[in-house]
Amino acid sequence: MQPEQQEQIYFNPWDKAYRANPYPHYEALYGRPPYLFNLFVPMALVARYRDAAMILRDHEQFSSVPPMSPFIQERLDVFGSAPRVVFSDPPVHTRLRRLVSRAFTPRRIRDLELRICEFTSILLDRVAEKGTFEVMDDLANPLPVMVIAEMLGVPPEDYLTFKEWSDRVIESDNTMPGVPLPEPVKDAFRSLRGYFINEIEKRRRAPGQDLISVLVASRDEAEALSEEELITFVVLLLLAGNETTTNLIGNGMLALGHNTGQMLKLARHPNLMPRAIEEMLRYDCPVQSTARYPKFDVTLDGVELKANTVTFVIVAAANRDPEHFPHPHVFDITREPNDHLAFGEGIHYCLGAPLARMEGAIAIGAALKRFPGLRLLNPEQEFTYKGSYFLRGLAELPMSLG
Ligand code: HEM
Repeated sequence: MQPEQQEQIYFNPWDKAYRANPYPHYEALYGRPPYLFNLFVPMALVARYRDAAMILRDHEQFSSVPPMSPFIQERLDVFGSAPRVVFSDPPVHTRLRRLVSRAFTPRRIRDLELRICEFTSILLDRVAEKGTFEVMDDLANPLPVMVIAEMLGVPPEDYLTFKEWSDRVIESDNTMPGVPLPEPVKDAFRSLRGYFINEIEKRRRAPGQDLISVLVASRDEAEALSEEELITFVVLLLLAGNETTTNLIGNGMLALGHNTGQMLKLARHPNLMPRAIEEMLRYDCPVQSTARYPKFDVTLDGVELKANTVTFVIVAAANRDPEHFPHPHVFDITREPNDHLAFGEGIHYCLGAPLARMEGAIAIGAALKRFPGLRLLNPEQEFTYKGSYFLRGLAELPMSLG
């Protein structure tokens, strides 16, 4: 496979070096309309803030449902064909979103705060005992999966198993079109499904207060979630809510580690935390890109996007568009305004945003408070990124407790 390189624009989500640092490659995309190319199918790259925001808001012209292709069919066969809220358009999306939003009321999120603080304390106690801090292994990986497990009402002790399944499923992004999904990916997905089919059955017999029970209960209504939609949503939650928040904590801690002045400022002024979290989301976005598909031929700034063109809306690039953000490559925890697109925009705006913000703030705040001398173990280290281009996450992040 020879990725498209004309006009010196390089885009290759399967290239490890590209995944490690895609930002320099985004530069050539600013100040120009969407960039069209072919990589197995017609594609477009959108990096300018105003184009990205416009496309995400315009669900009348830009669909979230991937057009059918052998590549998509294979994934549907493996991952199940019930519509997923994130890959659906109205009216399907409207109905699914309405039902699943019940699980994300402000009250439900607030109720989790105490548990998140407890989990964080337990994890940081272990760090203090060990005397070394591997941010990913010790905090960023376990915490979000423990929180999701708590939300779903399954034992947080199962987190290692969830994490393993979820990591394997996310690796599927690295399988190139035309290459069959590896068996371990399929196995992990089967295990996830099997586990939750069993959990749903348990809630039906003995409902509780947890999110699965809430979703099971809403099945009795006229527009209820079908059995398959329910399983699909629970699995989506585990995947969507887990790796993304892990990457907010990991990428955020790395940004602080590289910008020690900002880290000190934040440690001294914890009230800056909400703004700092927004800057972490903007500066090194946990979700690099999402995708849309024009429903018909659409002209954008003189460029015609043919119907069904796979249009990558690179929110991480939009978040560093110099036309929108002054000094976009500077990490500034007091940046204001900071209307980044890390959680998307429009009808698909992230349902878990309040939870992710709260979790990030608790985890990073507690780490800074507990270990005032925190710094990168080796600031010159070249960091490796795992998983997929779309979910940008560090493989490891060793820090020194000072
Ligand atoms: C820092 C962490 C997170 C980031 C950066 C993030 C990012 C995003 C983005 C960009 C979208 C929109 C995708 C699109 O428009 O195509 C989205 C949607 C979604 N996110 Fe998140 N997310 C995070 C955490 C979470 C958490 C913790 C949960 C749940 C526990 C969650 C659940 C969802 C769901 C269900 C949707 C689909 C909403 C819809 O289609 O209406 N996310 N997220």
